[in-house]
Amino acid sequence: MPREPTSTDRHSRLTIDLGERSYDIWIGDGLLDAAVAWQGLPQSARALVVTNDVVGPLHARALLDRVAPLHGSVDCLELPDGEVHKNWQTLNLIFDRLLEKACDRKTVLYALGGGVVGDMTGFAAACYMRGVPFVQVPTTLLAQVDSSVGGKTAINHPLGKNMIGAFFQPVRVVCDLGLLRTLPQRELSAGLAEVIKYGPIADLTFMDWLEPRITELRGLDASALAYAIRRCCEIKAGVVAADEREGGLRAILNFGHTFGHAIEAGMGYGTWLHGEAVGCGLVMAAELSSRLGRVSAAFVGRLRSMVLAAGLPTVAPRMPASRWLELMRHDKKAEAGSIRFVLVDDRGRADVQPVADDIVCDVIAQCTEPSRDAGFGPST
Ligand code: NAD
Ligand code: GLY
Repeated sequence: MPREPTSTDRHSRLTIDLGERSYDIWIGDGLLDAAVAWQGLPQSARALVVTNDVVGPLHARALLDRVAPLHGSVDCLELPDGEVHKNWQTLNLIFDRLLEKACDRKTVLYALGGGVVGDMTGFAAACYMRGVPFVQVPTTLLAQVDSSVGGKTAINHPLGKNMIGAFFQPVRVVCDLGLLRTLPQRELSAGLAEVIKYGPIADLTFMDWLEPRITELRGLDASALAYAIRRCCEIKAGVVAADEREGGLRAILNFGHTFGHAIEAGMGYGTWLHGEAVGCGLVMAAELSSRLGRVSAAFVGRLRSMVLAAGLPTVAPRMPASRWLELMRHDKKAEAGSIRFVLVDDRGRADVQPVADDIVCDVIAQCTEPSRDAGFGPST
């Protein structure tokens, strides 16, 4: 479990307890300007800030200035933006730059961006010279509450989401809430899907707290945001500390993701945002839990209202049932061709179980708009 956090008025720190791979997560407004969040990082001759061509122009200068004193030289690489670029070709751009600049095995990588940049930079750090240190500087809500913490790194394959990757922990995570002020509303909503998921799987008190505050969070209310990010990171830190490499428990963090990943891959990466697909997937997974008698219809209704309040889709896109099943059989939780789902109960607990295809297909049919394309239309 995470150690007791230490807090100041504006900044707080959690430690994720993984023995020699333990690290701090700093959360607060203005952390790019706060020396305390950057103390104790590895110093090196070279460092590389990896970002993308949207986030780089907005925020890279501040990070470069902050970390310059730690390194002899700091370079910056802007990857093309978007989930559609989370692949081998883009990953290779990082290796190209590291090699062109003669970076050695002490080189520190900084991931400045959302989950796409974070996952790819982490994977590059895991592979380059068999592992170099990296720091997560997440710039989306989704990345601050989920993807920057816990050491899952990956790229996509046309046949499945995040199929090629590694477990590789960062040496620090710095969540500066101020970076979220430039985030588009659609992306903020997408991040709320991962915030909402933590209640049903681990903390119904958090779900009670969150339910009336979704509008505040969409308005970037600083204290609500700081509390929500911190609570999500605490829950995630506890789960990851107990099961770093997803031998069992960690899979609960994938609540809604089996359906969600199928939507993302089935509609084409980037058509539905990851968080949008997860939002809809949360409702589908809750319906599945209800169908199996684990939660009440009222619980599903509550969750659906929260997802809607976050500005996220609750109606699944139309795909043939066979396509849904094919996509979900590629899910990493599948075993011997049997699809396994994260199911929740009324007491804020979750576990992973196989479910018969006919029940899954019933839920898909129930959650899909019958006579036209999905009721919610993510722009493409
Ligand atoms: P993203 O990285 O694509 O970022 C969303 C968009 O917002 C991008 O266009 C990006 O350029 C832009 N952006 C980012 N920060 C910004 C800012 N501060 N101001 C303006 N624009 C900004 O998407 P995401 O939602 O952050 O992450 C989704 C990815 O995370 C998916 O690939 C998913 O698989 C992965 N993920 C990983 C984990 C994990 O544990 N590793 C967990 C959840 C999700
Ligand atoms: N986002 C799921 C995990 O980190 O395990």
